[in-house]
Amino acid sequence: MSHNLLKGKRGIVFGALNEMSIAWKVAEKAVEQGATITLSNTPMAMRMGETNALADKLKAEVIPADATIVEDLEQVFARSQEVLGGKIDFVLHSIGMSPNVRKGRDYDDLDYKFLDKTLDISAVSFHKMMQVAKKMDAIAEGGSVLALTHIAAQRTFAGYNDMADAKSLLESIGRSFGYVYGRDKGVRVNTISQSPTMTTAGAGIGGMGGFLEFAEKMSPLGNANAEECADYCIVMFSDLTRKVTMQNLFHDGGFSNMGLTIAVMDEFNANK
Ligand SMILES: NC(=O)c1ccc[n+]([C@@H]2O[C@H](COP(=O)([O-])OP(=O)(O)OC[C@H]3O[C@@H](n4cnc5c(N)ncnc54)[C@H](O)[C@@H]3O)[C@@H](O)[C@H]2O)c1
Repeated sequence: MSHNLLKGKRGIVFGALNEMSIAWKVAEKAVEQGATITLSNTPMAMRMGETNALADKLKAEVIPADATIVEDLEQVFARSQEVLGGKIDFVLHSIGMSPNVRKGRDYDDLDYKFLDKTLDISAVSFHKMMQVAKKMDAIAEGGSVLALTHIAAQRTFAGYNDMADAKSLLESIGRSFGYVYGRDKGVRVNTISQSPTMTTAGAGIGGMGGFLEFAEKMSPLGNANAEECADYCIVMFSDLTRKVTMQNLFHDGGFSNMGLTIAVMDEFNANK
């Protein structure tokens, strides 16, 4: 249902790979709410995934970019302003990848070249994105920049591996750049800490199936799905949240504030 929350706004959505992607749902909902957008993903993802199909459906241009390459990001912000006809109002960073996770390297057996890549792709790219945008003065005053994170940034979750370190850095960059961007340009920067979600990236995390079930039982409202996450992103891009910045916003059905639920206790007591 459209409330035209993003009517007349211009946005860039990074990271829509396929229908399961959180960014895919955000792109669909942003257009439904009246925005015009461009999409970006790596050339490889565009070959392997379905980004072009989404672009056709939404009549959005896709601008290929590796988010770790500054020149690629400059191209995304330059071309997006050209295509959309002005400064950008919102940006979604929905990007994550760990070669250590992909190759099954445990946390006490990390390959450090892989770790550099994990941090560059999953966290430093957020800084690069904002530094490029700020230098180009590409984001309008009142604009909103979001990245997606997970509570493993703050507490230890078995199996999350070096992505936990990447998410800690991502959240810190959100705060630090949020100060500078707010002070100088009136742009807000936040991270949304999302429930475990079955996507291509999510499925890569060790023991995801069991973790989804555990998180569901630990959350009074149950896990938030990708579509619900997209709804939250839309509100954060809208003018309804003009003074929210430098926050890590939990979107997890209450999981982050729970210690123990009856649902989890019952599970253990059943075997006694
Ligand atoms: N799925 C979950 O359980 C979950 C939970 C909390 C947060 N998140 C975060 O949400 C975001 C989106 O992930 P998702 O779950 O929708 O999975 P996804 O696999 O659909 O999206 C990840 C995206 O990152 C892109 N990407 C990888 N390397 C890149 C690079 N160098 N440059 C540009 N793009 C690159 C991929 O092509 C893909 O589109 C990620 O930051 C992820 O960590 C996911």
